[in-house]
Amino acid sequence: MRDFSVYLKTLQSTLSLTIHTEGAVQHADFVESSLVYGGSRPWEIVLENLEPILEQGDDRLGLGADHATFSIARVLIQDREKIQDKVVCEVGCGTGFLSILCYRLGARRVLATDIDEKCLKYARKNVKLNRADVLFFQGDLLQSIPKAESINIILSNLPQKPVSDPGTFSIAYQGGFDGADLLRKFIFQASERLNPGNRLYLFYHSLANPQVLQDLGQHFEVFLRAWKRRIFTYYELEKIFPHISQLKKEGKSFFDIYEERTRRYFFYGMVLEGVRR
Ligand SMILES: C[S@@+](CC[C@H](N)C(=O)[O-])C[C@H]1O[C@@H](n2cnc3c(N)ncnc32)[C@H](O)[C@@H]1O
Repeated sequence: MRDFSVYLKTLQSTLSLTIHTEGAVQHADFVESSLVYGGSRPWEIVLENLEPILEQGDDRLGLGADHATFSIARVLIQDREKIQDKVVCEVGCGTGFLSILCYRLGARRVLATDIDEKCLKYARKNVKLNRADVLFFQGDLLQSIPKAESINIILSNLPQKPVSDPGTFSIAYQGGFDGADLLRKFIFQASERLNPGNRLYLFYHSLANPQVLQDLGQHFEVFLRAWKRRIFTYYELEKIFPHISQLKKEGKSFFDIYEERTRRYFFYGMVLEGVRR
């Protein structure tokens, strides 16, 4: 299943799920892991007068904007008109970069949550530096957002690496035994908070149990907006390699060989847009 279209077809028939793929774009395999602005390389995002986003290069925090952040950002920029004048909520905001972006794209009100107070500290600084207006809440997924807030758009790039031992990575990266723990809870909470016609943008990667996409399809019409191959070395995911290999055999995780000689592999990353039914 080195071919993405084969992977996607198999996924849809196994899950009896429809994912609309018209207009989906492929993003580059490799990206810089830090935020860069104003350049001409394909992954660079040009935002005028953006102050550098503060990140703490500390693996224990979820602050680093990564390939997924970039993919979501590019889709949001493309969807500027859908964001204008809307109430947007970013769940698991990390640096706050995507929230700042939504503010810049003309959202009427931007709310952001994170479970980690250190992330929120940085996100607040970034928002201030960039003269944006974002309302922050600390808590688990959407639980800290007051029910009175009428949200139109929810976005998330949640931790979803499968781990057999909860101490393997920080909370910024791990998504429970099959990787989909947070996604499952998130989809349920988002479906309760969004009215028909409202939407979510969700980053899903193929290491996490695809079964969770069935939950998504139950409440949302699902559109694939962007996808990419995320290359990783064996050593990068050495700690979970036996676990994801076992899950792969059970059809609960997918990755493949990218280049045998260098022991490089890839999984698929996708930006999905869900329109609440
Ligand atoms: C992969 S990072 C993404 C950060 C940012 N959204 C981005 O795209 O750059 C995941 C973020 O989710 C946060 N997080 C983890 N578990 C969470 C939970 N239960 N509720 C809210 N946020 C959570 C982490 O602290 C981290 O900042």
